[in-house]
Amino acid sequence: MVIGPYKLKNNILLAPMAGVTDSPFRQLCRELGAGLAVSEMVMANPSLWKSRKTQNRLKALDEQRPRVVQIAGANPDVMAEAARLNVDHGADMIDINMGCPAKKVSNAMAGSALLRDELLVARILRSVVVAVAVPVTLKIRTGWDMEHRNAHRIARIAEDSGIQALTVHGRTRACRFNGQAEHRTVAEIKSVLSIPVIANGDIDSPQQAAYVLRSTAVDGIMIGRAALGNPWIFRETAYFLATGRLMAVPGTREIRATLLRHVRGLHEFYGAYAGIRMARKHIGWYCRNQTNARAFQALVNQANTANEQIRLIQGFFPDPQELAA
Ligand SMILES: Cc1cc2nc3c(=O)[nH]c(=O)nc-3n(C[C@H](O)[C@H](O)[C@H](O)COP(=O)(O)O)c2cc1C
Repeated sequence: MVIGPYKLKNNILLAPMAGVTDSPFRQLCRELGAGLAVSEMVMANPSLWKSRKTQNRLKALDEQRPRVVQIAGANPDVMAEAARLNVDHGADMIDINMGCPAKKVSNAMAGSALLRDELLVARILRSVVVAVAVPVTLKIRTGWDMEHRNAHRIARIAEDSGIQALTVHGRTRACRFNGQAEHRTVAEIKSVLSIPVIANGDIDSPQQAAYVLRSTAVDGIMIGRAALGNPWIFRETAYFLATGRLMAVPGTREIRATLLRHVRGLHEFYGAYAGIRMARKHIGWYCRNQTNARAFQALVNQANTANEQIRLIQGFFPDPQELAA
């Protein structure tokens, strides 16, 4: 898949997820096969740029390029300024969020709330596209609610505004995360646009990824929740798409090594205090299918130092080599 000047290694993308797709997680998913990993959303409001949370979101370790930063907001000038700021900080692409139903974002008339105002959408897209020299992409839902499903018109506006790729989450804003995502809308949009179109929503296995690609003819797919505690889904999906065969799922040893690396990365990225807290939910996701997961989660949530958190994980997944020694 090609977006602007960038030829991606494949068409399987990690979805932006606030509080999840920070630099350590993006790096891991890319190493395990994601063709692109979109950052957490950064609110375009300049008064928020100095907050520790936003600073962390702007910060990236040695990430694979291209780096995509997602921005959200409702004021065309402020969005343009936010895009410029992120490009100055090293973003290779800017993604605009018009798909997030979160109250904080919707109440600010940003995210998916914007879908109601097509003129404003056009002004924002144009303003951001002319502000930066890098490709600008857009992520939307299928509409505001079931009576206002205007993704087709927004898609046209996006292409006419110079947007270089469009992701469609197959739900309306009002649907939040209920029911099953539908991909018929994205297929219809794909058939009339010439920019790359990406399908998103409920893609949780290599087989589902292959089915969505085949049945919609979209250029790429984006995976969110199915990657939580399971960054291997990217290599498994890439392998299935290339060979039609399923890869073996990771064994305990690989889960242990990846989780330890991820948690150490979080400690380093956020510092021990915030890193320990950020790691807790990831540990829960990685371990949810293991025996005694609940008791272990309760125990590991008590850990107050980075070393203790690491030791508890090592104890939960004993290293076969250490046991043999
Ligand atoms: C915890 C969480 C945080 C999210 N944050 C964002 C965000 O910051 N920006 C955005 O465009 N979508 C956000 N989303 C939506 C996802 O990008 C994606 O569209 C949605 O989860 C559907 O894909 P999935 O079924 O593969 O999870 C978030 C979703 C989750 C679960």
